[in-house]
Amino acid sequence: MDDTPQNSARTADEREREVVIRVRGLEVGFGEKTIMKGLDLDVYRGEILGFVGASGTGKSVLTRAILGLVPKRAGTIEVFGEDLDGLNPASRRAIERRWGVLFQHGALFSSLTVRQNVQVPMREYLDMSDRLLEELAMLKIEMVGLSPDAADKYPSDLSGGMIKRAALARALALDPEIVFLDEPTSGLDPIGAGDFDDLIATLQKTLGLTVFMVTHDLDSLHSVCDRIAALGEGRIIASGTIEDMLASDHPWVRAYFHGKRARAVMAE
Ligand SMILES: Nc1ncnc2c1ncn2[C@@H]1O[C@H](COP(=O)(O)OP(=O)(O)OP(=O)(O)O)[C@@H](O)[C@H]1O
Ligand SMILES: [Mg+2]
Repeated sequence: MDDTPQNSARTADEREREVVIRVRGLEVGFGEKTIMKGLDLDVYRGEILGFVGASGTGKSVLTRAILGLVPKRAGTIEVFGEDLDGLNPASRRAIERRWGVLFQHGALFSSLTVRQNVQVPMREYLDMSDRLLEELAMLKIEMVGLSPDAADKYPSDLSGGMIKRAALARALALDPEIVFLDEPTSGLDPIGAGDFDDLIATLQKTLGLTVFMVTHDLDSLHSVCDRIAALGEGRIIASGTIEDMLASDHPWVRAYFHGKRARAVMAE
């Protein structure tokens, strides 16, 4: 492990844990605009990391940069100890098989049923008979708490909460070790969002997942996240437990975690 000041400030417990995503010195920009620069981030195996930041700070861009969907200008991204830059196509695919993604927008293909959506990654990465694909897709659909008759529905026939669950089933299609969830509870009512949080927490435990979750939802941060990282000014401005965030003196972090809405959540 390197010995940057950031690392030496960590507890011994954190140093011992396996880092499954390690980002160092990341710079991403579009045209003249720099979105992030010198960003360092570690994600530990088995944790639920909540990722916060003002709208437009680059939470989705960071997620997409880790996934290799947005080019970076500088820095390194290691997943499962492998530098993503140095991979040949076969090794790259092997890593892609080990993560699942729930995107912020366009979570599902509208022309495919739920079952077909869940099967998309399976067809791309697994060599399986149609019968097995059917069984596996139904298993994932049940796993996220959807009833079997949702399988043959199209996204337009589903509620917002059901769409999120179906998208989660697709993210889990390949039995991933890491899932990236970009605002999984946005647009859901508080009860629906709470149920979804419980589902994520249960799946994390039973499947041993590492969860990278972008969220604006203070309830989620409070109830399911083991650790939180805040993005601002193109880098991580604070990270740690909810107590660490409450103790941060960064103005945005203070405003977010000590604001009116935050106080209501903490008081519960
Ligand atoms: N493909 C792109 N080309 C140009 N600019 C982009 C592109 N993708 C994102 N951006 C810009 O990058 C910045 C960060 O966007 P991003 O979507 O990551 O924000 P965010 O933190 O996820 O916001 P929100 O909380 O609203 O989802 C924004 O200014 C956005 O306009
Ligand atoms: Mg976003």
